[in-house]
Amino acid sequence: MLVSAAQMLKDAKAGKYAVGQFNINNLEWTKAILLTAQELNSPVILGVSEGAGKYMTGYKTVVGMVNGMIEGLNITVPVALHLDHGSYEGALKTIEAGFSSVMFDGSHYPIEENIAKTKELIALAHSKGISLEAEVGSIGGEEDGVVGAGEVADPEECKKIADLGVDMLAAGIGNIHGKYPENWQGLNFDVLAKIQELTGEMPLVLHGGTGIPEEMIKKAISLGVSKINVNTECQLTFAAATRKYIEEGKDLQGKGFDPRKLLAPGFEAIKETVKEKMELFGSINKA
Ligand code: 13P
Repeated sequence: MLVSAAQMLKDAKAGKYAVGQFNINNLEWTKAILLTAQELNSPVILGVSEGAGKYMTGYKTVVGMVNGMIEGLNITVPVALHLDHGSYEGALKTIEAGFSSVMFDGSHYPIEENIAKTKELIALAHSKGISLEAEVGSIGGEEDGVVGAGEVADPEECKKIADLGVDMLAAGIGNIHGKYPENWQGLNFDVLAKIQELTGEMPLVLHGGTGIPEEMIKKAISLGVSKINVNTECQLTFAAATRKYIEEGKDLQGKGFDPRKLLAPGFEAIKETVKEKMELFGSINKA
């Protein structure tokens, strides 16, 4: 059964570990992530961007696929199905479709409008037992074709949004999606510490989990980060494994082209990546 992300993140914050949000794009990714979470007895959050939702033919398809897999694969660890960087309309649609968690990314609105919309969505989500993530200070890099400059959040604004009753808060602290530039300054831990001080128990979310060095991830967790998002790394390992398989000509051997065999190495690669991240985030055996 799908669960809201609220309790798993409260537990993570109290236990000083982080739950991974792994973005899904198709059946193979979803299956690989769910099986790995079950094998490692770890809670997990499946992230769906609006673009990925469209690709998978709509949110209802995603809900049906994930619920079917949870049953068919006997998944008993807590799983949240979460809208990643949702627009206001996207949040409404996923709440309606049966997601168990939603991110409303209002960081591009003026703070008062971000507050008004977030407040409205919290009431709706909570009336259905769904958790809500809000964002303050945009996270840079490219996500689904949208390029953000990256901006460090104002801790006072974070407190304002946290006080509305969101379940988790994403705050930009110099993190960006995808590849980090050579001259990247690193995460701004002073701001993270200030946000944590002002928001207390609020589970904090770190986006752009792919390129952040391990030591910084560990420090961020020690400063209150309890959810870390990973997308690009799964894309890279999936693509590399598939490319290798094709280059070796294995896709054309035997009885001919079999899509299940072609995608199998990518599936295994995602399992490996998810395992590495769960080890780093400390969520193994925390289900
Ligand atoms: P990466 O693509 O850098 O892993 O970031 C993922 C993310 O933050 C999704 O919201």
